[in-house]
Amino acid sequence: MLALGIEGTAHTAGVGIVDDSCKVLANVYDMVRPEKGGIHPREAANHHAEVLAPLVRKAADAAGVSLSDLDVVAFSQGPGLGPCLRTAATAARALALSLEVPLVGVNHCVAHLEIGRGVTGCEDPVLLYVSGGNTQVIAFARGRYRVFGETLDIGVGNMLDKFGREAGLPFPGGPRLEALAKGSSTLLPLPYSVKGMDVAFSGMLTAALALRTLGRPLEDVAFSIQETAFAMLTEVTERAMAHVGKEEVLLGGGVARNARLQAMVGRMAADRGARMFVPPGDLCIDNGAMIAWTGLLMHRAGVRMAVRDTVVDQRFRTDEVEVTWR
Ligand code: ATP
Ligand code: FE2
Repeated sequence: MLALGIEGTAHTAGVGIVDDSCKVLANVYDMVRPEKGGIHPREAANHHAEVLAPLVRKAADAAGVSLSDLDVVAFSQGPGLGPCLRTAATAARALALSLEVPLVGVNHCVAHLEIGRGVTGCEDPVLLYVSGGNTQVIAFARGRYRVFGETLDIGVGNMLDKFGREAGLPFPGGPRLEALAKGSSTLLPLPYSVKGMDVAFSGMLTAALALRTLGRPLEDVAFSIQETAFAMLTEVTERAMAHVGKEEVLLGGGVARNARLQAMVGRMAADRGARMFVPPGDLCIDNGAMIAWTGLLMHRAGVRMAVRDTVVDQRFRTDEVEVTWR
């Protein structure tokens, strides 16, 4: 069985093709990079509209399959930016209708977890999902993926990117700050905001910008942001693992590519006799392969959607999805 997935919740338009053993046959994408300022939903949607059809062809070529070999088309139904979601959904509907194959709408956050399970071999992890827009601690409980902790304000990636932009770094700021942080071991005080299993980052952003105004070296501020933010994330992940009694932790989302975050979570896991799993970088960021794989799992479990069921949902909650495939 072959599934094609279309991702388009935010910056990234992605198309992936996977088979029923979770072999990723193709995973291609194109990302909007705002010259300055944040992302404009309309502009990103126009970008997706332009690139999606070529990406579908590119994915089929990369996979060495013909579109007529596909058994199911999946797309990111939410959560995300309305115009982007609608553009990806429209592309997916057109493709599924023209190929006369079933169409499955996939929850983007669930897809980050499923691709991690599919490619790393972990079975029942706590997922630390850390991206630009999202920061959540998710685990399976009573038939659904449930959010045990999340950010109360902005996503951790968003905080890194906003700080990076103010510091004059090109977008995205996360990887640039990681490189700069390697040049420092000076820990400056920043707000450590953990409330139960939730975290908050806007106070840290304000405080980090203030440190820059005071003339503190960018390397030191980058180092301090990473140490403080990642310690917060590690703490809430550990609390969730203890609470739900799970012995695997999975990383997902673009910030999961950060080696310092991986080291901190890996150390926490080792200390509790648990294991950490990290998918390859291009499956951590937003990607079409994770949508294809989750769509394939859902289809195989008997999920069927009429076109009217494929309306997008900007606030599609992780725990709204009944997980019938586990
Ligand atoms: P969504 O929130 O919908 O998942 P997104 O486009 O923000 O969407 P991703 O593509 O998963 O999400 O991740 C992008 C984020 O990852 C950016 O904020 C970027 O700065 C961050 N990022 C990427 N690499 C690194 C890194 N090495 N260290 C820290 N942050 C990183
Ligand atoms: Fe994502």
